[in-house]
Amino acid sequence: MKKIRAFAPATVANVCCGFDVLGFAVDFPGDEVVLTLNDSGEVTMSKIEGDGGRLPIDASKNTAAVAVQSFLHGIGKVQGVAIELYKNLPLGSGMGSSAASGVASLVAINHLMGNPLTREQLVVHAMEAERIACGSAHADNVAPCLMGGFVLVRDYHPLDVIKIPATKNLYATLVHPHIELKTSDSRRVLKTVVNLKDAIAQTGNIAGLMIGLSTEDYSLISRSLKDTIAEPIRSAFIPGFDSVKNSAQKAGALGCGISGSGPTMFALSIDQNTASRAGEAMQLEFLKSNLKSEVYVSKVNQEGARIIDSE
Ligand code: HSE
Repeated sequence: MKKIRAFAPATVANVCCGFDVLGFAVDFPGDEVVLTLNDSGEVTMSKIEGDGGRLPIDASKNTAAVAVQSFLHGIGKVQGVAIELYKNLPLGSGMGSSAASGVASLVAINHLMGNPLTREQLVVHAMEAERIACGSAHADNVAPCLMGGFVLVRDYHPLDVIKIPATKNLYATLVHPHIELKTSDSRRVLKTVVNLKDAIAQTGNIAGLMIGLSTEDYSLISRSLKDTIAEPIRSAFIPGFDSVKNSAQKAGALGCGISGSGPTMFALSIDQNTASRAGEAMQLEFLKSNLKSEVYVSKVNQEGARIIDSE
């Protein structure tokens, strides 16, 4: 096997109360890559489409290539690889765009090399791609992108990622307004010290969300989808934030918040109709702020990135 095509989905990091420690994957949209092995001994980017010419073709700066370099280094192999990247996820959207490119490449190279690493073991290599993309090696996009479902990053030192035995019944709505926010900028504005009251509220909510997800207690999930740390600061960057959030809740969603570092907003619902209604309501509210948006509705993805075909 010398050539392989892989897909990695968008992800929602933070999920309100889990700043940098919780994320989930959706079924679509996502990025695709085609990896071809060669004898050059080098990892190169041979093509990038769908990025409007904005992503670096330099392999040392591109997340898709950096992830593969880190993987090959990790397993102690020298291998030439040419990477074609087909971007479907918008840049600076909060939908885990950089994570998806790195993860798609990683599952592809892992497969080509005979799957020496588990999905969980690939997380550290995907984090290297995040470091290149935004200066911070957070795992709350890459871990669910690799493993599917809701994934908790219990600790970073050493890394401890856990796929939560969560309900598989939830539908996610993603509404992406047409503005761009760089993750590095959205991180820079956050406070480095959190006051005790906010820390207590966040701890209660993340614990409540874990229990709600694993016992299918939808009321508890709903009560727990709150963020006292990032949202109060980041919401200022999203025009109409409060009314968009209220509209999702009025439409029947369990909760609504910022997807990753924004500006995309997400909602969770217990059925597809509610998820679609929430999407329409949120889109309408963004329009009142003169913002067009795309709406995506899908189940919470359970498998993570996947191989499409190989030859
Ligand atoms: N947890 C990260 C953040 C996710 O909120 O900055 C970025 O997509």
